[in-house]
Amino acid sequence: MGTRRSEGYRCTSCATPVAKWVGHCEQCGAWGTISEIGPGQRAGGGPGGGAVRIAEVAEVTRPPLATGSREIDRVTNGGITPASLTLLAGEPGIGKSTLALQLAAESVRQGRRALYISAEEAPSQVRGRAARLGALGGELWLAGERRVEAAVAEIERLRPDLVVVDSIQTVGVDGVGGAPGSVSQVREAALVLAEVARSSEAAVLLVGHVTKDGSLAGPRQLEHLVDTVLSFEGDRHHALRLLRAVKHRFGPTSELGLFEMVGGGLVDVEDPSGLLLADRRAGAPGSVVFPSLDGRRPLLVEIQSLVVSGPGTTPRRSAQGLDSGRLGVLLAVLGRVLELPVLNAEVYCLAAGGVAVKDQGVDLAVACAVVSSMCGRPLPADTVVCGEIGLGGEVRTVAQLDRRLAEVARAGFRRAVVPPTAPDVPGLELVRARTVSEALLATGLAASRPTRTSRPTSGPGPTKIAAG
Ligand code: TYD
Ligand code: MG
Repeated sequence: MGTRRSEGYRCTSCATPVAKWVGHCEQCGAWGTISEIGPGQRAGGGPGGGAVRIAEVAEVTRPPLATGSREIDRVTNGGITPASLTLLAGEPGIGKSTLALQLAAESVRQGRRALYISAEEAPSQVRGRAARLGALGGELWLAGERRVEAAVAEIERLRPDLVVVDSIQTVGVDGVGGAPGSVSQVREAALVLAEVARSSEAAVLLVGHVTKDGSLAGPRQLEHLVDTVLSFEGDRHHALRLLRAVKHRFGPTSELGLFEMVGGGLVDVEDPSGLLLADRRAGAPGSVVFPSLDGRRPLLVEIQSLVVSGPGTTPRRSAQGLDSGRLGVLLAVLGRVLELPVLNAEVYCLAAGGVAVKDQGVDLAVACAVVSSMCGRPLPADTVVCGEIGLGGEVRTVAQLDRRLAEVARAGFRRAVVPPTAPDVPGLELVRARTVSEALLATGLAASRPTRTSRPTSGPGPTKIAAG
């Protein structure tokens, strides 16, 4: 710890690189042939080191730094990789500094050294947060540096295993045009830090701010310079936080990590569906539970709708955590195909708990929520709804229904209104609906079988809504 690391070792007999000195070479069996590679000739060559046979390139031998959090380990495929650059991106106030400090504290707890470079907050502020998180002890070092050259000097002096730079938009590089945070400065700072990550073998975590629409020059420009991009999301006004790998050189990007922000920092969420549904008023009109899927992770989300009969001019529409364009399409289907009086109504829809649902399987749940609010009649409390809706009012299949429905059963729901293709799931009564009308009937929102008009269509036809 804290001493200069070797460039690695190699067997002088068979040239096999090895991570640490051993008495005999496991590859060729020779004894006493392992010797240290001199400075500048890193094991396996590298940029500027000349070509070597591919089998002679040193494997990554240092394991990832386990994070102490099942959720972060899940997203990062086992932890933060040494000698790599990770960008932790998210909106201001979402909890990036908290997460970064907790990661640093955990690696210290595991006997490593961590350096937190705060270019944004005063060291006393960071200390205050560390005290709150119970992270004041041991080899956790703090530097209030705003120049990347000074940060690099500290990294080279202390040789930490983990470095946090908070934030990449507030460190400046000498001799580069623009203010800190400008594209050229952010880019150059990241290049310098990537180099020091490689040479010192530290895992370097850059904190980066993005705005609500995901823009802001900095972090987006950074994505191709770093090995891993972790996106930290959620709604500041809710406790749930979502971490996902948008880019990951060392594992898949389909995993989702879930945390709750509490008084003592971020904690892993054991039962995210339970957390999301905790405030649900089961039996309230306009509320529908939807089994969403984020990456590979099923999550039960409450969809809420409030429909107010409008003045008849241009009615207000609002979608929070849902696609507003898609809401317009669904209202058009309900209005035109099912002939429900929604086209002139004010319609408000949201995904509760501050999650953003990007899954088109939510269509049927939104439609049921709208109709439920309109007729003032709740859905059965034990029922979830899932399915995409086509323009003709047909219910279309959604991805990974088995995974979603397993979560539905686990969470204690009894019934699911689903597309016709849904597989059976033990403990769950499935209502396979071919059309929105059939789904409304199954949820008790339509009073009778759809009364067909004399139009020669094969579509679902208008629906008589149940009285409230
Ligand atoms: P912060 O990590 O500063 O966010 P970012 O670096 O992304 O801007 O934390 C954001 C919020 O989290 C802050 O408003 C206070 C809250 N918080 C807690 O609720 N509990 C805690 O233990 C800590 C440290 C912060
Ligand atoms: Mg911060």
